[in-house]
Amino acid sequence: MSFKEQSKVELHLHIEGGAPPDFIRTLAKEKSVDLSGIFTEDGGYAYRDFWHFLEVYEAATSVLTGPEEFRRLTKAVLEACAEKGVVYAETFLSPDFCGGRDVAAWKDYLAAIQDAATEAERDHGITLRGIATCIRHFGPEFARETALCAQETAGGFLTGFGMGGDEKSGSQGDFAYAYDMAREAGLRLTTHAGEWNGPDEIRAALDDLKVERIGHGVRAIEDLALVERLVEDGVTLEVCPGSNVFLGVYPDLSAHPIAKLRERGVNVTVSTDDPPFFRTDMVKEYQDLSRQFGWTPEDFRELNLVAIDAAFCDDATRNRIR
Ligand code: HPA
Ligand code: ZN
Repeated sequence: MSFKEQSKVELHLHIEGGAPPDFIRTLAKEKSVDLSGIFTEDGGYAYRDFWHFLEVYEAATSVLTGPEEFRRLTKAVLEACAEKGVVYAETFLSPDFCGGRDVAAWKDYLAAIQDAATEAERDHGITLRGIATCIRHFGPEFARETALCAQETAGGFLTGFGMGGDEKSGSQGDFAYAYDMAREAGLRLTTHAGEWNGPDEIRAALDDLKVERIGHGVRAIEDLALVERLVEDGVTLEVCPGSNVFLGVYPDLSAHPIAKLRERGVNVTVSTDDPPFFRTDMVKEYQDLSRQFGWTPEDFRELNLVAIDAAFCDDATRNRIR
């Protein structure tokens, strides 16, 4: 079986980060917004480092101005995922970018996204669940408003709460109140940690936010006591190897700790993060990992079972995709 045909589960995917450059360029033209500075000559996204990436990301997102744009975006993202064999995906959705954290507006955006997801499930056999996501560098006040949006729409399609953005800004603990709100609403919890900061950041995520999954978390490898804790507590890492190499967290895949973490018994999974920004997709991730670590379709089958177990979905959905 080729990696393309293999059924895949992807747990870490930012919806705006899945926007093909042409999609954003066309919208910018329609709205007469000059975004020429964010594209390379060959049509990709242009940025210098992670922090500049966040700026370019927000500029690209600025042309996604209503539910209809997110409907079209969700359709495009899910078609691209399904084409790579993804049968189940979870996506980060930011009330910040979907109506400016206004609950009524957020409900309209979410309905449009869910509509597109229902259509994609019918047409391409891919299931999507949403993770409402606050943005760390926007601060704890905005995160509380985000958590309120999440509370008001928890259940069904919206199954999780998360945090993205600049890991160097503030601390995980600053967001404990927002996470408590999300937990009380029955949402499952994850946060970006241990990509740009070291092991202490991951400890803070576990201790202060009580998350069950960690976005990235790869720098846990710098502290073997923490690695043991991840194993004992059954914490799942949403690892995005292509993203880490593209952004320079590691110089190349041979230096990436995903295989070491897996050998030590950590629940690792594979995702793309923001595929067109990092010039990747799920088939490329599998091919690169296979080439580097000798992983076979059976290894990826095991990784997918880990992802299914850690998925923020109900058991009926879990059994269907297993
Ligand atoms: N990391 C952190 N925050 C983000 C990302 C990412 O890859 N994409 C969008 N927001
Ligand atoms: Zn991410």
